[in-house]
Amino acid sequence: MASSSTSPITKAIFPVAGLGTRFLPATKAQPKEMLPVVDKPLIQYAVEEAYEAGVREMIFVTGRHKRPIEDHFDMTFELEVALENSNKQELLDVVRSVKPDDMECIYVRQAQALGLGHAVLCGRRLVGNDAFAVLLADDLMVGPRAGHGVLKQMVEQFAEWRASILAVQEVPPEHTRRYGIVAGTQVNDNLMDVNRIIEKPAPEDAPSRLGVAGRYILTPGIFHEIANQPRGVGGEIQLTDGIAGLLRREKVFAYRYEGKRYDCGSKEGFLQANVELALAHPQLGAGFKQFLQELAL
Ligand code: G1P
Repeated sequence: MASSSTSPITKAIFPVAGLGTRFLPATKAQPKEMLPVVDKPLIQYAVEEAYEAGVREMIFVTGRHKRPIEDHFDMTFELEVALENSNKQELLDVVRSVKPDDMECIYVRQAQALGLGHAVLCGRRLVGNDAFAVLLADDLMVGPRAGHGVLKQMVEQFAEWRASILAVQEVPPEHTRRYGIVAGTQVNDNLMDVNRIIEKPAPEDAPSRLGVAGRYILTPGIFHEIANQPRGVGGEIQLTDGIAGLLRREKVFAYRYEGKRYDCGSKEGFLQANVELALAHPQLGAGFKQFLQELAL
């Protein structure tokens, strides 16, 4: 397929096979990635962020019960005809914009939930020998301004350094157990040359307070590392362990992104995202702000 993108990163893996147990009962019969924040499912935010960064091949690593994700990025013929017949052009544009014509969606199944590293490995054949992005839809990332999303910032870093780039943020010491934590040598204000990465350490074992957010640009060398590593934390094949192997052979950088992350894998983060994105919404924002002000009285 002819790509309209000149980005050095045109492929992204979206691991979406997880069970979403942190969000039960909402996720009993629907994928957590389809939970809406304001008016869009979580996965669409991640896909739009990737598209903005120049990615055109979206590779979804799915599992059982994830059909709604495929349906969402497919054409909805009956709906489009109905909207066309009733002259609802604006809604038709909204529906059609979910999958721009030059975007390709590819699905590969992760038969067993063996961990994030394993999910990424499932995309190996589709990615081939190119550097690629990984986006975890649970982490909803909002850039500092329109057109300056987190993955786009990372692609700019990749264009300069031609090496793997991990998105990082400072996390409170009591939260190191939730993240991959990195340490290394500072290159400039926003960039660190990583020499250590460890998955979910206890605060006393954490080499820093820089936690990896769910955005990665990785060189294809990562596949070899993941394929040859033992199981890690929680008995899972961890992406973090693969990156620990990779940085013994290649440069890996940690990039302090500009913007905000909402942990939509947690109920608190999900609610915060809904409130803040509703406030920023062009049509809903003003009325919703007034509602919140009245509520706070
Ligand atoms: C995963 C990664 C972890 C990373 C985090 C970001 O953990 O294993 O290294 O910091 O995503 O959200 P999970 O949240 O899937 O347990």
